[in-house]
Amino acid sequence: MDTTGAAAFDAAADGYDDAFHTTVADALTVRAAGADPVRLVYDAATGSGAAAFAAVRLLDPERVVAVDFSPRMLERARQRADRLDPGGRIDWRTGPAVPAPLPDGSADVVLCASSLHFLGAAALRDWRRVLRPGGRVAFSLPTAATFTPSAAFAALVAADLPVPDAPDAAAALAAAAGFTGITAERLDVAGPHARTVLLVHATRPHDR
Ligand SMILES: C[S@@+](CC[C@H](N)C(=O)[O-])C[C@H]1O[C@@H](n2cnc3c(N)ncnc32)[C@H](O)[C@@H]1O
Repeated sequence: MDTTGAAAFDAAADGYDDAFHTTVADALTVRAAGADPVRLVYDAATGSGAAAFAAVRLLDPERVVAVDFSPRMLERARQRADRLDPGGRIDWRTGPAVPAPLPDGSADVVLCASSLHFLGAAALRDWRRVLRPGGRVAFSLPTAATFTPSAAFAALVAADLPVPDAPDAAAALAAAAGFTGITAERLDVAGPHARTVLLVHATRPHDR
């Protein structure tokens, strides 16, 4: 595991902006709901759990597997779980988010909020592996224009997945990994740390 990266996120965990990330994760997750019942959700790079908690509230899954390589971020998530996951449906795991610790074709929904730019293109290929045919992926990314990481975080951005500048460029990432039924949109988040992010939703095809 890349412990250098985990250490950077550990160091940032205490000041983590839960409010912004909850707004993004909620918008991402509500649009991932479909007609089918959701049994298993995978939350890749869960951080303090924003998307995992949104899944419990908005998708009513049987189980959520939520992975992050930062022990300190997961500690924050577990502290919030008493209130936000009272039924204990989230299985928190410390480790690399890619590959997902799940069998092929097992997940109904994959969520990845504000993290794909750290995971790289291999994550998208892995999500196609773990999703069942017809399963849905939902990820958010910062926009290139508003993404201004510190040097420590800039060094962690994956070289093979450029931060997109517009919805079309974000959608192209999903298309390149073989997803279909792709939608991409901007989300403007107001507040003291106002930012614009890109939300992408797509489906794992039945035929590939
Ligand atoms: C900006 S935070 C987003 C966290 C969360 N998804 C949210 O929306 O609040 C990025 C997260 O990615 C995690 N991360 C980055 N690279 C990772 C990797 N290779 N494996 C597991 N977690 C990773 C970091 O520890 C951090 O918690």
